[in-house]
Amino acid sequence: MFGKVAVFGLGYVGLTTALALDAAKIRVVGYDIDNDKLDKLKNKELYIHEPNLEPLIEMHNISVTNDINVALQDDVKIALVCVGTPSRNDGSINLEYVFNCMEEIATSLINRDKGLLIILKSTVLPGTSEKCIAILEKISGKYHGQDFSFVMSPEFLREGSALSDTINPDKIVIGFKHDSEWDATVELYVQMLIGHDKEPNYDIFVGCNYVNAEFVKYANNAYLATKISFMNDLANLCEEVPGADIKMIEKALGMDHRISPYFLKAGLGYGGSCFPKDVDALIHLFENAGIESTLLQEVQGVNLSQRNWPEYIIRSVFANTFSNLRVGVLGLAFKPDTDDMRESPAIDIIHNLHIRGADIIAHDPEAVENAKKVLPPITYADDIYDVLSGADCVIVATDWKEYTHIIPRTFKKLMKRPVVIDGRRIYNPQAMLKAGIEYYGVGFGKLDETY
Ligand code: UGA
Repeated sequence: MFGKVAVFGLGYVGLTTALALDAAKIRVVGYDIDNDKLDKLKNKELYIHEPNLEPLIEMHNISVTNDINVALQDDVKIALVCVGTPSRNDGSINLEYVFNCMEEIATSLINRDKGLLIILKSTVLPGTSEKCIAILEKISGKYHGQDFSFVMSPEFLREGSALSDTINPDKIVIGFKHDSEWDATVELYVQMLIGHDKEPNYDIFVGCNYVNAEFVKYANNAYLATKISFMNDLANLCEEVPGADIKMIEKALGMDHRISPYFLKAGLGYGGSCFPKDVDALIHLFENAGIESTLLQEVQGVNLSQRNWPEYIIRSVFANTFSNLRVGVLGLAFKPDTDDMRESPAIDIIHNLHIRGADIIAHDPEAVENAKKVLPPITYADDIYDVLSGADCVIVATDWKEYTHIIPRTFKKLMKRPVVIDGRRIYNPQAMLKAGIEYYGVGFGKLDETY
């Protein structure tokens, strides 16, 4: 059994991983440069909205520090690096935090007798692990394989289901060089899964070199993004074909096990801190290799233009008139079950409508505080029904469960003109049309007269 685990970077991945390890009775020390996060963790307060983490945070025994020497005391045998890798303005990836973290770890390796296993979980470009090892060796004067070990193990958890994804992984990818690195990393994951009463299935472990471990993370996200853009592309066509419905296409496609039913939902495009950033980074990687990925450029292009869909509907219904138009927006977060606004399609949608003079009132169960930091001055409603009252149209921008409970009659009763622009396909089109709603759904090719 190994000693303590130090987790570097207590964002979504780091915090979830630290809590999952701690709940599995593995001793954890959390390191971050953000004292606010450390204070909150110390006080057992959750600083991200993430289902199922609350009970874990309430009973955690994680010690926290912003001092590298405290984080890497001798009883720590594993350092999990989960720091962020944000995009630069040109779409390329900024690895500064990863390299800074390696420099700090390297400094503490100088006086360390016993070996440390460093597991990098951040999303990094192929070739980064070798660069990290070079930094660690240069600064510490120690040798990889002899004085310290290094593993690249990318993370696949999603926001909104972070804990569940961590303790029920489809796969665990381990990039390594020496067998002992593989053994120790498998043992760590197995101990964590056992700690959550999961029967470890060794078939889910994928062992490979560093480059492939780094690569697979980008391939994973880019493939899922491609599925979504493909469906959004088809959705646009469905809208031009009376009687066609992307939901039926989605259902039938998903039944083919070669395709799978996941990530086939057409909507307003993908957002969040990962897909847009990672597809951009992969496009850059292609460019640096002297190859053009027209496919991935189109995936991003379709994704961005999908955000124009609500405005396109409003233009056609209201004859290009935006002034005095009261637009209700249901949902702001980039997806349900999170308060994360990063790259949320709602940002572009609201900015554009605001510039054109629309009067916007929006609701989100969790993301309003974050939304205020990135949106123009609009009205926020605590109550869903205030969004509907007197509205000329309502846009569903995030598929929060509570919005699915609004019945057609309520739209009809409260709205000035019952135009519902369902960007997430959460309502039954036939029921809406039957109730007299002017219903527009992504990928729904209306048959006006026959419904
Ligand atoms: C994504 C990946 O799914 C994770 O495996 C990965 O670990 C993570 O990025 C990361 O790289 O850290 P996340 O960004 O949390 O996770 O969110 P997803 O659930 O993947 O959704 C991304 C976006 O796609 C959302 O805006 C969502 O609304 C959209 N989406 C998803 C669709 O438009 N249609 C779908 O069918 C599925």
